[in-house]
Amino acid sequence: MPSLTKHDAWWRDAVIYQVYPRSFRDSNGDGEGDLRGIIEGLPYLASLGIDAIWLSPIYRSPNNDGFYDVADPRDIDPLFGTLADAELLIKEAHECGLKIIFDIIPNHFSSDHIWFQAALRAAPGSAERARFHFYDGRGEHGELPPNNWNSLFTGSAWTQVPDGQWYLHLFDPSQPDLNWDNADVHEDFETTIRFWLDRGVDGFRIDVSHGLVKEEILVDHRDPDLLTQALRIDTNDVTAEQRADLLSDMPFFDRDGVHDIYRAWRKIFNEYKNRMTVGEAFVYPTSRLANYVRHDELHQIFNFDFLLIDWDAEKIKEAATRVISELATVGAPATWALNNHDSPRLLSRLGSVDKARALALLTAALPGSLYIYQGEELGLPDGEMPLSARRDPIAIRSQGADLGRDGCRVPLPWSAHQVNFGFSLGAPWLPQMHSYGEYAIERQVKEPHSFLNFYKKTLELRKRHPALGGDGSITFLDTKPGVLAFTRVPGLVVVANTHDERVVMDVEATSVLHTSGPGVGFASEVLTLPPHTTVWLQR
Ligand code: BGC
Repeated sequence: MPSLTKHDAWWRDAVIYQVYPRSFRDSNGDGEGDLRGIIEGLPYLASLGIDAIWLSPIYRSPNNDGFYDVADPRDIDPLFGTLADAELLIKEAHECGLKIIFDIIPNHFSSDHIWFQAALRAAPGSAERARFHFYDGRGEHGELPPNNWNSLFTGSAWTQVPDGQWYLHLFDPSQPDLNWDNADVHEDFETTIRFWLDRGVDGFRIDVSHGLVKEEILVDHRDPDLLTQALRIDTNDVTAEQRADLLSDMPFFDRDGVHDIYRAWRKIFNEYKNRMTVGEAFVYPTSRLANYVRHDELHQIFNFDFLLIDWDAEKIKEAATRVISELATVGAPATWALNNHDSPRLLSRLGSVDKARALALLTAALPGSLYIYQGEELGLPDGEMPLSARRDPIAIRSQGADLGRDGCRVPLPWSAHQVNFGFSLGAPWLPQMHSYGEYAIERQVKEPHSFLNFYKKTLELRKRHPALGGDGSITFLDTKPGVLAFTRVPGLVVVANTHDERVVMDVEATSVLHTSGPGVGFASEVLTLPPHTTVWLQR
């Protein structure tokens, strides 16, 4: 393998900001964010000190699942703008010094995609149906689904069509799973990848990257309901042992055949300069994550540990050590994400600004690449709203038994004083809470100790400090229970106090570089750290 320079491998330690386009900024007053809105927001994004933006999907879609139900992956949905707007965004982002990553959704298409529409019209056994997973049902008249798998969005994973056959959808019925044993599917995705790479995108986030290959499709799962629970990253209704057991042999996720697909894709990426991929994969155990980032597959893979992690020194140390060491076996950098569009915001999850800032500062000092989800830099909590205002198919299909993911998708507050907090002149597609004015960008920019300025300083130091902004080594130090401490070379010590009590401890360092909160004392190598606080110390 040719060796990569820092410039070629920009993604190894990049800070990548996830834009959820529908909720970022609206330029035309329809209450929905759009591409022109993102272009307007580029100066703000560049001011954060990030390296790249990742856009959740903007492709043509009936929008049954937040645009993750794609009807045409090579066209832009009119809600967001036009192909020309997308090209302009790519160009302007580059001019602002930002790379730009798009989402790609290979596990399923929308049922509105021309292929699925053709499959519905075609006969059982036809070439059109072979691009999806169509099967006859069980029971005397085929009235039962082909197996007992559940959709991740509740209910059966199968829907029957008028001629009696059933098709597989691991998500919403409007998201039929693609059959990756079919050559057309491979060819079409290669065309899509080249389509966007040729237009200058710097990479892709691959949705459900562990899901493409299915095995034993006509066999019942031994415990489908418990498996569904185990797959929910935000529930504790299953024990760690049950989760480990069930996730280690799922017939529809993390099958070995998926790696052949990424090997083929990597060859395409290697034809272009400095492009990258990051996979979304919920796999178990962590050692299996490393398979996705072998030298001839993807460049990065998400781990979900930090989206769920408790503010607990021992748990954080265990997860960080495990992820870093497993990925190191294949020479891949770790990625860290505290928030995304599928999970409760950190503030709401931890219920404390102090804990959120302390975890963010700790995470920013870990080796590898850092993902930030829009609004995270504002310390935004989840939005609350009645069921009637919710749009997530999880909330709708479960009739509110599961409130789903709308809370973390509420449009951003730009200004405390403007209508709809400066997001749009029209009513936002999800309601913003009154309190969102307190978090407005315009207000936080002016407050020296705001969450936003804390994030900016963190990212600026991460970029400037020679021990940070790299994917080098990390050494954890032995310390008191409830306290996490590690060093990064050269010259940085990070200490986090997850206790409710102040700690006083000896630390070999010279001065304080940055803290997540007030009240940190450091003199003559004695550190006084208030509860729920992280400090970066210079050695
Ligand atoms: C995306 C979700 C989406 C699902 C189905 C996930 O991994 O992040 O937002 O609902 O894939 O496409």
